Amino acid sequence: MDLKSQIDINNLPGHVAIIMDGNGRWAKQHNQPRVFGHRHGVRAVREVTESAAELGIKYLTLYAFSTENWARPKLEVDTLMRLLVDTLSKEIATLNKNNIRLDAIGDLQRLPSATFNALMDGIQSTRNNSRMTLILALNYSGKWDLIQATQHIAAQVLDGTLDPESINEALIQNNLSTHGIPDPELLIRTSGERRLSNFLLWQLAYSELFFSPVFWPDFSKEHFYQAILDFQHRERRFGKISEQLVK
Ligand code: FPP
Repeated sequence: MDLKSQIDINNLPGHVAIIMDGNGRWAKQHNQPRVFGHRHGVRAVREVTESAAELGIKYLTLYAFSTENWARPKLEVDTLMRLLVDTLSKEIATLNKNNIRLDAIGDLQRLPSATFNALMDGIQSTRNNSRMTLILALNYSGKWDLIQATQHIAAQVLDGTLDPESINEALIQNNLSTHGIPDPELLIRTSGERRLSNFLLWQLAYSELFFSPVFWPDFSKEHFYQAILDFQHRERRFGKISEQLVK
């Protein structure tokens, strides 16, 4: 039986987050420069976005560029930024055709203006779509997110509109860049690495983690289905014991 038909569509993760890793190593395997891996990574982005929407997953977040990625060689950073502009302008029509809304999290103002503008155009033009939200994490890091939330909260305390005693989980959640978006129930990381790499640190507190040995450019629909099936076979206890769960 094929993998897709084994998936229980009544038990899907509402939000899947992905650390797309291994583009550079994939390129090396093919005796090509690293940027060749990123270009092929776009194919996997398309494939996984399509399969997530087809299954009925409501939110898909992709770690496309971290705050630490600026430290890479300039050629690679410039190529990634250009690739984002090209991909966004090419794919907006497809997102609209498939009723997918684009969103982004991260310190977006610091992106090159062409990337920022392409992103804003995409977000604006897909804003009424409702089947799935595709969130690109760009110039994002989990620590940045917690810092900017803390700054917002501190400013409210300073101007007297917030009592420090009333700072709770919900308030912090509401000040994160992901406010209004449910936390990911499943995190996938490709390429065999088993790290969070400063991704959604607060939001991944209770997520199931799935590590795939496959390099991102080779990650296909079938690999995605495998991750979902693996998620469906896990027992999510949230600190409780097995017998306390409503089955
Ligand atoms: C990680 O592989 C990949 C990235 C830092 C960038 C991901 C970007 C894309 C897939 C292309 C554009 C994306 C969109 C959403 C249009 P790596 O370079 O760290 O690989 P390595 O660990 O093998 O060096």
